[in-house]
Amino acid sequence: MPIHAANSGWVLETSQTAYAIGLNAAGLLAQRYWGARLPYPGDYPDPLNPVERTSFDSSAHMTPEEYPGYSALRFTDPAFLVSFSDGVRDVVLIYKDYSVIDTAKPELILRLQDAHYPLTIELHYRLHEAYDLIERWVTFENSGETPVLIKRAFSAKLTLPQGDHYFLSHMYGRHLDEYHIQKEPLVPGLKHVESRRLTTSHHSAPWFAASQNAQEFSGEVWFGTLAWSGNWKISAEVTEFASTRISIGLNDWDFAWKLMPGQPFTTPAAVIGYTQDGFHAASRTLHDYVRNELLPHGPQPHKVLYNSWEATLFNIDEASQAELAEIAARIGAELFVMDDGWFHGRLSDNAGLGDWWPDEVKFPRGLGGLIQKVNDLGMEFGLWVEPEMVNPNSDLYRTHPEWVIHFPTRARTEARQQLILNFGRPEVQNYMIAVLDKILRENNIAFVKWDMNRNVSEPGWENAPGDPRELWVRYVYGVYRVWSTLRERFPRVIWQSCSGGGGRADFGILRLADQIWISDNTEAIARLSIQEGFSQFLPAITMEAWVTDWGRDLVPLEFRFHVSMCGSLGVGGNLLEWSPAERDLAARCIQLYKEIRSIIQLGDQYRLISPQKSEFSALMYVNKEKTRGVLFVFRVVMPDPANLPVIYLKGLQPEALYRVEGFDRPRSGKAWMEAGIKIELKNLQSKVLKIEQI
Ligand code: GLA
Repeated sequence: MPIHAANSGWVLETSQTAYAIGLNAAGLLAQRYWGARLPYPGDYPDPLNPVERTSFDSSAHMTPEEYPGYSALRFTDPAFLVSFSDGVRDVVLIYKDYSVIDTAKPELILRLQDAHYPLTIELHYRLHEAYDLIERWVTFENSGETPVLIKRAFSAKLTLPQGDHYFLSHMYGRHLDEYHIQKEPLVPGLKHVESRRLTTSHHSAPWFAASQNAQEFSGEVWFGTLAWSGNWKISAEVTEFASTRISIGLNDWDFAWKLMPGQPFTTPAAVIGYTQDGFHAASRTLHDYVRNELLPHGPQPHKVLYNSWEATLFNIDEASQAELAEIAARIGAELFVMDDGWFHGRLSDNAGLGDWWPDEVKFPRGLGGLIQKVNDLGMEFGLWVEPEMVNPNSDLYRTHPEWVIHFPTRARTEARQQLILNFGRPEVQNYMIAVLDKILRENNIAFVKWDMNRNVSEPGWENAPGDPRELWVRYVYGVYRVWSTLRERFPRVIWQSCSGGGGRADFGILRLADQIWISDNTEAIARLSIQEGFSQFLPAITMEAWVTDWGRDLVPLEFRFHVSMCGSLGVGGNLLEWSPAERDLAARCIQLYKEIRSIIQLGDQYRLISPQKSEFSALMYVNKEKTRGVLFVFRVVMPDPANLPVIYLKGLQPEALYRVEGFDRPRSGKAWMEAGIKIELKNLQSKVLKIEQI
């Protein structure tokens, strides 16, 4: 049993790591340890009992508390904030008891109770031993008679081993330019990254990694992510006593939750981990966890898809889609996805959202004819929807203008001519379930791309069930409810999460969607960097990547294919305009991809030379058995004569012999990894090399 309870404390052990908690002499629940697993449960340090320094620095303030509230003389950033009905905002949490749920994924629950008010807080820790990950979430319960207002409710507070010399890695970006990795020193004070946009956001990702000297393949990394598709926040605080603490959870910005008697509130789960083997190892375990534990269809490689969006935009009908489908099938696509523009009144982006039935002019026979044609060509059929949205110019909005998120006294700010349906409202959820159910029931649809193309404004909710600021959370639960209901009814369907590209990529949505459309930017050079950032916490199997015509005049088609082959390959260019030679090349690349996709989608990914740092980049994938691999190398634009770096392969068995495509003789895995290889490329040239054990 990897949960040990002893000496007023608990030790949680995964395969290689441990997390220890305990009650100190003052009765405060404190973190004792987070790092490498030690041989014996008794090895872990006792809880700290900091000594009060002066009247300005209390011992509680200096204690690395597991879930600190705002209380007495504590001035570090609290993990939660509440206000009782009499106006008291100070919390005195007393440890009550604990329980352990002994299953394959054992769980520790610690119960804390306010000294005066009927507020109970449960801290949950679920162990994923094989992945060296711990899931943490918190439940608030009010057993009194009056509501308690929750103003902040993070999922976890984490204290790093004593010291103030940490770096925080996180991601920033924007629409069309997601996932830039930012690594910066943590200095005394508070740093936070967040989303305030209702969705996960393009602008920052709910992931962090803290490190001191770690590199890609070595060194200690403490990392985590939040399984949540709405507003989130990660804060890192370095206190004046050199204690570095991280909180992760729901964003408390504009947040409030009225905790009614007998109706518990549960936070989303944070997934946290520790490794001694660098950023690669942190990513790798998250990749395995996503594939095996989250994805609805598990580790099943995805089909090569064709998506018509960039080729046709809104200008579609049965005949023109069928024409594209024919060429798509010929080059080897296995799934044909019709994007935006197919539904009632959708001639451009200023009308139609909300009216989810086939446009009578474009599809007078409904979708059945096109789907049959696509199926006859040997492909499955997929469809784009944007369920949370409505254009004011739609039948739905004319009937239910009150369903959108708005403040009654304010204008409803449009973005892309659209407003957001309040998915927090059960009647909106039920309506959308019925509408989408009908489309899925009446048509042979194997794949759905669920889009969400704007951020929120005027976040109001008249007659909200609790505090109107609950919108931020109720909305996300509403999206989850609609999506999971449809999933249950149509279990075969593969769903893709898109929000104008990578606006909704997180561990919460990956319980519902098998794939993510990670950026509306399909230009291959920009993609190299975007894809690398994404890979910090999400695996290639979830990364849908199309080859389009963006950058066509500059970047060779083969290069564009190679970039997209690093994820789940798709094609999105206008095939009607591709020459026979381009279509032949596409067919060859897709064929090659089919031979290696199980390595890419199910294997281990190694970032060898970063495209965010260098114009010459390399990455590889190795299958779990370490018998097959594939190496991708890209050179963007470097002045000649360029001194190209040696590439040191990774992930091979040292003693086994491997053949690397293009090299004359087999060598040991150790030789490829230690002596490395040189690959000469010209500007805008790329290579995919297969690696086989012999
Ligand atoms: C978003 C998506 C695109 C496409 C368009 C359609 O921008 O990210 O892939 O589906 O919407 O309107």
